[in-house]
Amino acid sequence: MSISQFTKRILCIGAGYVGGPTMAVIALKCPQYKVTLVDSNAERIAEWNSDRLPIYEPGLDEVVTSVRGKNLFFSMETEKNIHEADIIFVSVNTPTKMFGVGAGMAADLQYWEKTARQILTCSDQPKIIVEKSTLPVKTALAMERILNFGPDGLHFDVLSNPEFLAEGTAIQDLSEPDRVLVGSRLTESGLAARQEIVDIYRNWVPEEKILVSDVWSSELSKLVSNLFLSQRISTINSISAFCEKTGADVDRVAKAVGMDHRIGDKFLKAGIGFGGSCFKKDILNLVYMCQTYGLEEVADYWQGVVRINEYQKERFVTNMLQAMFNTLAGKRICLFGFAFKADTGDTRESAAFYIARRLIDEQARVVVTDPKALPNAKIDLAGFGDAVEFERGPYEAAEGCHAIAVMTEWRQYRALDYQKIYKRMVKPAFIFDGRNILDHKALFDMGFNVYPVGKPALTHLHES
Ligand code: NAD
Ligand code: UGA
Repeated sequence: MSISQFTKRILCIGAGYVGGPTMAVIALKCPQYKVTLVDSNAERIAEWNSDRLPIYEPGLDEVVTSVRGKNLFFSMETEKNIHEADIIFVSVNTPTKMFGVGAGMAADLQYWEKTARQILTCSDQPKIIVEKSTLPVKTALAMERILNFGPDGLHFDVLSNPEFLAEGTAIQDLSEPDRVLVGSRLTESGLAARQEIVDIYRNWVPEEKILVSDVWSSELSKLVSNLFLSQRISTINSISAFCEKTGADVDRVAKAVGMDHRIGDKFLKAGIGFGGSCFKKDILNLVYMCQTYGLEEVADYWQGVVRINEYQKERFVTNMLQAMFNTLAGKRICLFGFAFKADTGDTRESAAFYIARRLIDEQARVVVTDPKALPNAKIDLAGFGDAVEFERGPYEAAEGCHAIAVMTEWRQYRALDYQKIYKRMVKPAFIFDGRNILDHKALFDMGFNVYPVGKPALTHLHES
C-alpha cells in the first residue's frame, strides 16, 4: 500500500514497553493504517529498526518483522510525523516525581507535558490526542488547557485509552484484551473522537469488550485496576508471614481461597514482593491524590499495600540472614533471576534489586544469573564493583556458592539438575525459593536446606 492510500495516520510518541508492542499490534491488525512511533531516545529507535529489538517480549519479534516498513515505522522525525498524524497516542514514561512538591509520591508529568507543547508547535490542523500512559486523574484537563489555548486557535480532543497489558504476555494481552477502555469528553466533538478510537479497536476486538466512558473515570479505572492487582499480592504476602509463624502453607491457603469464584485464583501467588515499573508508582500516585483531596484514611489504606510489599522484601533478606547463622559476610549468594517477573528482560523496581543491595550491605558476594535480564542487571548493579558477579548459565553461577535465592519464576529454573548444582556448592547448602516454584521435598532429599515463602522450612540443621 502506498503512503497516500492509508486511511488513518496514527502516531505514537514514546516507543517503550507499551508504545512499541501496542503500535506493532495495531499495525498488524489494521494494514489500512499507517502507524509510526517516535521517541526522543535515538538509540531506542535504532534498535526498533534493527534485528535486536530494545525489549524482550514473547512473540514481539515476529509481529514487528511482519509489519515493519509496510505500515509500521520507527522514526526520529518527530515534528514531521506530528504534523502528518490524524491521531496521536502519547505513551511516554510517567515515573514517580523525585523532586520538589510531591517528591517520592506524585507522578512526574514533565515528559507528558513536553509532548503536549511539541504537538501544539507542530500542528496546523485539529488532532485527536490519546493518553496511553498511566496518568493522575484529570491530567487530560491540563493537556486540553495547553493544547486548546495555542496561538492558532486549533481544537484538540484529549482522550484516555489506558493500557492494561502485562509484560511477558503483552502480545497475547493486546491481541485478545479482557477489555479496551476509551474515555472522552461527552461533547459532540469528544464523542466523535471517541468513536474514531473505538473504530481502531473494532478491527479485532469484539464490540462487547470495548468500554466507553468519560475521561476521568477512564483515567481512574487504570489506576484502580493496578491497585486491586497489587493489593491482592500484598494480601497474600501478608498471609505468607503468618503461615511461616504457624506452619500453614500459603499456596494451599491461596488455592482454597481462590477456588471461591467470588474471589478468583489470579494474583494470589506469594513471593518476594511485587516489582515492575508501575504498581508502586501508581499506588503512590493515588495516595498522593487522596492526600491532596484530604482523604487521609483512603490514602493510608492504599499506602499499606506498599508498606507490606517493602516488608515482604526485607523479610526475605532477614530470613536468609537468620537461616545462615546470622552472618552473610564473605558468603557467595547466587540469585536465580533478576527480572521483575518471568518472560521479560525488564528489571525496573525488581524485588531482586532490593534484595541484592541488602545482601551486599551484609557483605555477601552476589552472583546474578538471568536468561534475559543480565544487560539491565549489569546497569542496575554497576555501582557495586567486586561485590557482584554475573554469569549467563545457572550452573556456573551456583558454583562455589553458599546459597541460591530464586528471584524470578523462570520456567527453566524448575528443570535444572539440582543434584549437579548441590555438588558444586559450599555445604551446608541453602535454597531460598522466593517464588515457590521448586520441588522442595526433592531438594531437601538431595541435602539442601530449603526455605520457601510462607511454608515450613525443610532443614537438616536441627537445633540441639
Ligand atoms: P518506557 O520508559 O519503556 O517508554 C517510554 C518512552 O517514552 C521512552 O522510550 C522515552 O525515551 C520516551 N519519551 C519520553 N519523553 C519523550 C518525549 N517528550 N518525546 C518522545 N519520546 C519520549 O515506559 P513504558 O513502560 O512504556 O510506560 C509508558 C507508560 O505506560 C507509563 O505511563 C506506564 O505507567 C504505562 N504502562 C506501562 C505498562 C508496562 O507494562 N510497562 C503497562 C501499562 C501502562
Ligand atoms: C501490571 C498489570 O498486570 C497490568 O495489567 C498493567 O497494565 C501493568 O502492570 C502496568 O500498568 O504497568 P506487569 O507489572 O507487567 O503488569 O506484570 P504483573 O504480571 O502484574 O506482575 C507484577 C509483579 O507482581 C511482578 O513482580 C510479579 O512477579 C508479581 N506477582 C504477580 C506476584 O508476586 N504474585 C502474583 O500472584 C502475581
